[in-house]
Amino acid sequence: MIITIDGPAGAGKSSAAKRLAREIGFDFLDTGAMYRCVTLACLRQQLLLSRVDEVAAIARAVEIEMRENHVFMNGEDVSEEIRMPSVTQSIRPVADNASVRQALVAAQHRWTEGRDVVTEGRDQGTVAFPNAQCKIFLTATPEERAHRRVEQLIELGMDAHYEEILQQQNQRDVHDTMRESGGLKSAPDSITVWTDGMSEEQVLQKLVEIVQTKMPASASK
Ligand code: DC
Repeated sequence: MIITIDGPAGAGKSSAAKRLAREIGFDFLDTGAMYRCVTLACLRQQLLLSRVDEVAAIARAVEIEMRENHVFMNGEDVSEEIRMPSVTQSIRPVADNASVRQALVAAQHRWTEGRDVVTEGRDQGTVAFPNAQCKIFLTATPEERAHRRVEQLIELGMDAHYEEILQQQNQRDVHDTMRESGGLKSAPDSITVWTDGMSEEQVLQKLVEIVQTKMPASASK
């Protein structure tokens, strides 16, 4: 069984998807980590990200594995490096590259074959797994997401200004939504969950409730 969780940055998708997978005994696929790995591989090779064919060749060649919440690229644990600002700031042309998306969606299909999976990203319920049995669109208002981001950055000891974060986030939302292939949108058959004012625990409970209504008896472990 496939459960897709899509939504904008800062909606709490990642922790919600991870916790949901653990709770119901499914594997967890972080598709954002795949785009991050391709970006890191390109940066290491000092490849111009505008060279769409070369970037796509890297996306097809790179081996990405996910085990126990660690991400391995060609056998190397890159879990921390793919979250570095240098990768985050460079990712847009990689995620916009239609051939990269095609290669990564194919890799997502291989990864999920024969497994029960919670998969998280932007295009999982729309492009990657249009026939998924359970689709969730997890979101929150821009203001709530920006407040959460500011709190996270301050916890990490970084400087963060709400207005600036909100503005950057709004720009990213527009870009993610307008992306020609794999743009961020909710699938018509997805269930939207607004997480404003909800704790992580409450979000988890809500997701478990939704999944229970969709889960065939044979898929539960
Ligand atoms: O979820 P994240 O921040 O780790 O995602 C990193 C980037 O990859 C983000 O810019 C959106 C993009 N992405 C995508 O285009 N499609 C996905 N399925 C997952 C992530």
